[in-house]
Amino acid sequence: MPEHRATFARPIFASLGHMTLSRVALAGASATAAAAAAVLIRHEQTRRSTERFAAAALETLLNAIDANDPETGAHVRRVAAYALILGEAADLSEHECKSIERVALFHDIGKIHEALFDIVHDVETLTPADRRAIAKHPEVGAKVLEPLKRFYPDLADGVLSHHERWDGKGYPRGLKGRRIPLAARVVAVVDTFDALTHGRRYRDAQPNDVARQVLLDGRGTQFDPDFVDLFLFPPVFAKVLGAEREVVQWKPPVQKRRTGGEDDKVPDITFRWRPGRNGARGPQASDPMHQTAR
Ligand SMILES: [Fe+2]
Ligand SMILES: [Fe+2]
Repeated sequence: MPEHRATFARPIFASLGHMTLSRVALAGASATAAAAAAVLIRHEQTRRSTERFAAAALETLLNAIDANDPETGAHVRRVAAYALILGEAADLSEHECKSIERVALFHDIGKIHEALFDIVHDVETLTPADRRAIAKHPEVGAKVLEPLKRFYPDLADGVLSHHERWDGKGYPRGLKGRRIPLAARVVAVVDTFDALTHGRRYRDAQPNDVARQVLLDGRGTQFDPDFVDLFLFPPVFAKVLGAEREVVQWKPPVQKRRTGGEDDKVPDITFRWRPGRNGARGPQASDPMHQTAR
């Protein structure tokens, strides 16, 4: 090309090149936006799928409690209903209320243990050895729930602490005051109320007034005084009595398939259930789940 033509042509080619580059840039930007949107959608699907799977896992655990011992199943549902009323009355956050609900529902999961189950249902008066065995149930429960620790960090610790006392004389760790996890302080109050008013096979149910007096007597020694006061505050207490009737009348719903699509399918996961696989080992001699009660 002659020099003068080349001189004229350069800006034209440069301009065409610029337009082409702009289109390419636009096309690239929209492809990036579409890819980002697809990642966000996938992320949201994964989050929902994980939530549904977690809910199904917790409901399965609750079904196991019911199947093993309907009496304990009814007890933990009432305790959870009362605990939620108390948490909401204390103006706790939704996150705290959900954590309290889980601790309340699974606080006695350690009583699934075969030897403890036999003792709890023994019509005879409990011996000191039986009482020592029953006192292991917070540790047994925490151990049962340990695999969920990464997902629900407060759950095992709350269950472990539900028999701690405000004055530090509880078990298993002798925690004192606000060092006791919040959920465990709430559950301690409502668990005692329900245990007294519904009785056990080895103990008759007490009238509400007697249970109220037990809570007042333990205010500031066994129980967090603020939660006792709030629980016995007439409008809150009236709600508790209403919830008790609702739980008694509650029937499990017919199980429907959870909503969702393909993302409901979970992969064939490998998990730790037998010795020598994925680092899993057999039970240790010091493990409270594997100590005999008698
Ligand atoms: Fe307990
Ligand atoms: Fe309980």
